[in-house]
Amino acid sequence: MKQPIGVFDSGIGGTTILKELIVEMPNENFIYYADSANAPYGPKSKEEIIALCCKNVDWLLARNCKLIVVACNTATTNAISYLRANYQIPFIGIEPAIKPAALHSKTLNIGVLATQGTLSSPLFHKTMLTHASHVKIHEVIGKGLVEHIERGDFGSASLKKILASYVQPLIKEKIDYLVLGCTHYPYLKTLLKELLPKEISIIDSGKPVARQTKKILSEKRLNYQNDNKEGEIYFFGNGDIKILSKIENEHFIEFNSLLVDNIDETNL
Ligand code: DGL
Repeated sequence: MKQPIGVFDSGIGGTTILKELIVEMPNENFIYYADSANAPYGPKSKEEIIALCCKNVDWLLARNCKLIVVACNTATTNAISYLRANYQIPFIGIEPAIKPAALHSKTLNIGVLATQGTLSSPLFHKTMLTHASHVKIHEVIGKGLVEHIERGDFGSASLKKILASYVQPLIKEKIDYLVLGCTHYPYLKTLLKELLPKEISIIDSGKPVARQTKKILSEKRLNYQNDNKEGEIYFFGNGDIKILSKIENEHFIEFNSLLVDNIDETNL
């Protein structure tokens, strides 16, 4: 099916997932929606997060998307059940990768850096009980990190200082895995590598989510079988679009083709 795959996040964080989706499915067309005007979602209530997700989904459905990837841990852990119950379209969500971290941890201590909204959600606690009850999980709220990243700050001294204050207690707890439970945080990998001893592995959910999306598309016979042509990638956002050139300059993501536009929320 030629229809695009919709991807959304509270801002640019979900581009770390989009990048993996493109690698896994280079022929598919994608529409990415960055709800930067409403970022961060992390400190918002479940009801507010659900309302924002519905707005994003309605916007993507109006553009004929065949499947939607909720490229945001906070949105997934608070709203995915609601979305699945209220829309016909298939949804793929993203959760902190505590399962593989717990499976491979030797020190039996893992760190999870995520938003308040994710860490306080019942879905996160359920996943923890199901897959990681044999390890000690050290949770840290990444307060303020999303705001820095949304401003295009991936490496300033003040950001490094905040990040250091979050990871130092985890190092003392002898964690051997740090789970990045927010799709914005892979942009901090360079800083994190400077701050963490090399024995600590950093893990995120991008690749497994991309593989799962491909699997569901083919199970539902929604995949686009055109091997000869690269897909088109459209980026829409309601925030400061200058950040996009920064993403491209950093070569973190390569857009096949890019259409940048500011969304007028009143026209949605
Ligand atoms: N990228 C979102 C996530 O994965 C950030 C949430 C926020 O806006 O606070 O949780």
